[in-house]
Amino acid sequence: MKKTFIVANWKSNFTSSEADFWFQRFKNYDLRIMNKEIIICPSFTLLSEIESVIKNYELGFKIGAQNVSPFDEGAYTGEVSARQIKEFADYVLIGHSERRTNFNENDEILFKKAELSKQHGLAPIFCVQGIETKIPSDIAIVAYEPINAIGTGRPDTAESAQEVAAFFKKNYKVQYVLYGGSVTSENVKKFTQMSNIDGVLVGGASLDAQEFYAIIKNA
Ligand code: 13P
Repeated sequence: MKKTFIVANWKSNFTSSEADFWFQRFKNYDLRIMNKEIIICPSFTLLSEIESVIKNYELGFKIGAQNVSPFDEGAYTGEVSARQIKEFADYVLIGHSERRTNFNENDEILFKKAELSKQHGLAPIFCVQGIETKIPSDIAIVAYEPINAIGTGRPDTAESAQEVAAFFKKNYKVQYVLYGGSVTSENVKKFTQMSNIDGVLVGGASLDAQEFYAIIKNA
């Protein structure tokens, strides 16, 4: 049975009490037996609290950050370094199209982020927009997120995602490829049943606890 990653990207949503409310829904379920790696990626402000909640409720979820500084610790006002993030998280999203577009992040910056993350024991989930996206040579997890599928309700086809996934596995040392873009509990299985797709990266639908639980179950 292959391992399936279900990753929630909460983006810039949820205050502390809203995150707590979301977790209340999950505390009665034991999800560890499902052979699924469930990763919650909240804002930096919630990392510490979520680490405690996951422990207290014994959920077995992992934590990912949504961003990381391209610099190591030091005089970089406003940045959060990989070493700081590693206190709470095991994963980090790098290269999301929202960061490339809104914050002008280019390959050079993204490669630095990936390198520092690895140095500090954080696993990068490197986002690609298609086969033309460059990735560092030592990336193990890629998330394929075609830009026009994000937040539009128009996911890519599973067949197209499967082709992109095969490309990255063939041409790089990539072990796992996730699909992201308008994933719901209704369409998740179409993607996860493809041989080269190892999970999903969920934005909007992950904000509703019940819907996210349905995605986990249906994946
Ligand atoms: P949606 O699931 O809202 O389309 O967002 C996808 C995404 O950007 C996850 O990183």
